[in-house]
Amino acid sequence: MQSFSFQCPTEIVFGREAELEVAEKVRKYGGHRVFLVYGGGSVVKSGLLARVERCLTSSGLAFEVLGGVQPNPRLSLAREGVREALAIQADFILAVGGGSVIDTAKAIAHGVANPGTDIWDFWTGKVPLAKTTPVGAVLTIAAAGSETSDSAVLTNEELGKKAGLNSEYNRPAVAFLNPELTFTLPKRQIACGVCDILMHTLERYFTPVKGNSFTDLVAEALMKNVIDNARIAIVNRKDYDAMSEIMWCGSVSHNGFTELGRRKDFSVHKLGHELGGRFDVTHGASLTALWGSWARYVYEDDPERFARYAERLWGVDSGTAEERARAGIRRTEEFFRELDMPTNFTELGIGVQTEETIEYLADMCTGNGTKKVGYFHPMDKKTVMSIYRMANK
Ligand code: NZQ
Ligand code: ZN
Repeated sequence: MQSFSFQCPTEIVFGREAELEVAEKVRKYGGHRVFLVYGGGSVVKSGLLARVERCLTSSGLAFEVLGGVQPNPRLSLAREGVREALAIQADFILAVGGGSVIDTAKAIAHGVANPGTDIWDFWTGKVPLAKTTPVGAVLTIAAAGSETSDSAVLTNEELGKKAGLNSEYNRPAVAFLNPELTFTLPKRQIACGVCDILMHTLERYFTPVKGNSFTDLVAEALMKNVIDNARIAIVNRKDYDAMSEIMWCGSVSHNGFTELGRRKDFSVHKLGHELGGRFDVTHGASLTALWGSWARYVYEDDPERFARYAERLWGVDSGTAEERARAGIRRTEEFFRELDMPTNFTELGIGVQTEETIEYLADMCTGNGTKKVGYFHPMDKKTVMSIYRMANK
């Protein structure tokens, strides 16, 4: 087991009506003027936004609201949010929505705390992030795990580049997890969310670091639980218990707990982000479109690891290690299809790409061939192109 230091300071308020504690928690984390961020309108339609606003008003908290965050959230809207939040001297940023809204709120929080700096400079690493503003997240979809994660992903639409920023300053102060808020989700978003949750642990499970029994067992239990409850929630979208399990696993899957003692890989995420930046596809779908190709390319590095995964997750217990490994990959893709999720570019809706586009994506992913991607099987530009090609059907 590798050495580690782990702190996930986000306070979790979990359960029915969790969002009604919003004003109390804003005050607890020093907020007086709240800048509230939401997405394309689902929270207006459901009445959640009005409920949260009433909570703030009735406890005497001043606030301003910015809507319009799109999936694959844009840098330009985050910059606009920084300007507006600074204008009201906001001291607490409140996200009401999913990963895209929360990541925008994180970006605004960084901009408010560092008024002289263009926020994209934090994403490129040009300026190190050294302070931020407290963020709260009222979560409406179990997926990205941003409500507790140390990460925030933005798309710079001018560059067509989607990039993540990892920093402890990205951890929200408080997250409100009410599974009932997900009951308005379309089936497609539940499926994309479930696959993203699975992928956050899968991308930590496949690591060359040996000897992590506790972390392995936690990871396997989490993934199994998500699969079992996804099968319930996809049929009955208002099953409180199933969605509770998925929602809590979504947070734990990306708060770092399933990587303790090892180093995460996250190469499928990097390849997927390039598809998001170029084609504006849904994040979870970009991952399922690539995972099988990645897995088939790399499993021979450690067939025993893949065989263990096949056995623990999918009950595959016969055949050689290679046969079990391949069966586990197949079963994972069958699960994606069961949820109507794509396993290649055509199913993703972007069609078969030219060799030129494959090279463009690989260049974006590897800094024009100067960097390797991943850790289980560090991949250079040529390897990244091979994986894109395998999914390009
Ligand atoms: O915008 P609205 O109208 O709210 O609709 C959203 C959006 O269209 C809808 N939705 C959300 N909750 C709903 C709902 N519709 C009905 N009822 C509800 N209760 O769902 C759509 C997707 O929302 P989005 O916030 O984009 O979803 P998700 O949580 O999957 O976030 C995806 C973004 O997070 C990034 C992804 O790359 C992507 O940009 N990620 C962020 C991470 C992080 N910060 O730690 C890690 C992840 O790996 C991921 O990269
Ligand atoms: Zn993800």
